[in-house]
Formats: sequence, structure tokens, C-alpha cells
Amino acid sequence: MWRRGAADLDRRVSSARVSGESRQETAEIQALAERPRPFAALYEHWERHHWSPFTTDFSVDAASFAALDETTQNGLTWIFAHRFQAEYNVAALLAPFLLAAPDYDVQLLLATQVADEHRHIESVLRVYAEVFGVEGGIDAVKALSDAQLDPIAETLYDALDGVVRQLERSRDADSFLRAILAYHVIAEGSIGRANQDFVAAQFRRVGEFPGLLHVQRLAVRDEVRHIGIGVSYARRCLSREGERAAGVIRDTVEAFQALGDAVLENVAAPMLPDIVAAYGAEPAVVWGEVRRQLELRLRSMGFGANGRWRG
Ligand SMILES: [Fe+2]
Ligand SMILES: [Fe+2]
Repeated sequence: MWRRGAADLDRRVSSARVSGESRQETAEIQALAERPRPFAALYEHWERHHWSPFTTDFSVDAASFAALDETTQNGLTWIFAHRFQAEYNVAALLAPFLLAAPDYDVQLLLATQVADEHRHIESVLRVYAEVFGVEGGIDAVKALSDAQLDPIAETLYDALDGVVRQLERSRDADSFLRAILAYHVIAEGSIGRANQDFVAAQFRRVGEFPGLLHVQRLAVRDEVRHIGIGVSYARRCLSREGERAAGVIRDTVEAFQALGDAVLENVAAPMLPDIVAAYGAEPAVVWGEVRRQLELRLRSMGFGANGRWRG
């Protein structure tokens, strides 16, 4: 049954126009995550959607970038430094997840994600080389993006790292659920999801970047599937453990919301001009979108607006 559904999904996705496509894919992968056999449906989706970062033409993008003034160029490379750091950090953090996977179904999906995240790194490196003209491969890009890392990103990566690295000491069910929430639902499902939309809008605003937006759209399709892994796993825990799992989820979400509020108040304020210049939006607007995305993920797990889980 889910196989026929996946084939229908493929047809609908390939016939969709670029505008609104990402939103449609989000809804459809969300639907995969909520099926009776979500893990099988997500694996099938991965098998049907392989892509290569080496087949995209970036010549128009390179000409657009070269024509920009230096301030705009710096803004674009700053937001791309975040993109590189995000891909590089989450790829490395999948190792503790794989070792702690509670069963084969979860292990299989995490293995597909290891391949996806490394493909995303390769795709970002290609943009650095072909569009921004950075030579020297990953070492040069890592040095460049480390120099552009800001206190907001550092605070968020430290928090994510702390929750996931706990799996190196303890692989109990609650630690694994907390790590899935921090990584798949919060980092990828709310921060990453919100960030992708702001970045795409900013590139559209400043020039013609068809190659860059194309590889970003392909990566976002993968990312939405990764969010589906997190939502599916959380739903499975809720169906097996009920209110006990709901409590772990609520605690993790509340800790993140408190961290986000503190970052907005104490760290983001001095960076306001840089954030507005790079993202085209104020930090409070970005944080509002992050929270909205998180609410969507929680709703699909069965949580209401009051934080109660409707089991
Ligand atoms: Fe990624
Ligand atoms: Fe991802």
C-alpha cells in the first residue's frame, strides 16, 4: 500500500512547479511520517530521490556573485558559512546516533542520513568553489567559516552537541528520544527549516542564483525527510510509552524555548544589523518562525497548543 503511495508522491513532486514545491514536499513527507509504516515509507522516499551535487551548472550564479558589491558578497558568504557549519556539525553528530540506534529500522534511516549529510557538505563545497571562488577545498572552507562563526551559532551548536554526545555515555530510551528531539525536530525541524526559507529569499532578492537555489531545494527535500525521521520516532515513542514520552518531549522543548529566548535577549541584540543585512529579517522575526516550525512538528506528534498531548 505504502509503495503505491510513494509512487504517487514521486509523480506529484516531479510535476510540481518550483514555487511552492518546498511547501508541498513538506506536507507530503509529513504525511509519510504519519503513516502506519512511516520508517518503510521514508526509506522508500530516500531510495527514489538520489541526486548529485556535480550535475548543476553554477555559471550564472558565479556571474551574479561577481557583480555584487562587497558588503552584499560578505553577507551571502556569512550565511553560507552557517550552512557549511550546520552540515559539517550534523554530519559528525550522526556517529553517536548510529551506535545508539534502538533497532534496525531506525539504524537504516540514520545510515541514509549519514550519506545525505555528507552529500550536502559536498554540495556546499561546490558552491564555495564555483560561485564564491574559494580554492583549497574543505580545509579552506572550514577555516573561512570558523572565522565567521558567531555567538548565536556557537551557543546553539554547544547545546545540540551536549544533548547528542550524552549518547556516548548512556544509550537509554530517554537519552535517545531527547537526542532525536534536539537534532531532528529542533535543529533540523525548526531552526534549519526556518533558516532555509530566509536564505532562499535573500538570494532571490539580491540576484540570479538558479544553480544555488536548485541544489538548496534538493537538500531541503532531504532535510524534510530527516525531520520525518524525528517526528516518526517521537510518534512511535508516544504510542508505546504515552505520557512518559510526552513528558520527555515537553521538557526538551521547554529547555530549548528558554535557551532561544535568552539568546534573543542577550546575544542577538548586538548582532541586529548583521542579521538584518544577511537574512533580510530581524532576529525576533527569525525566532518567531523557528517557534512556528516547532509548533507544526509538535502538532503532528499530537500535541495541542496548550502543550498537552492528545494520546
Ligand atoms: Fe543536511
Ligand atoms: Fe539533515
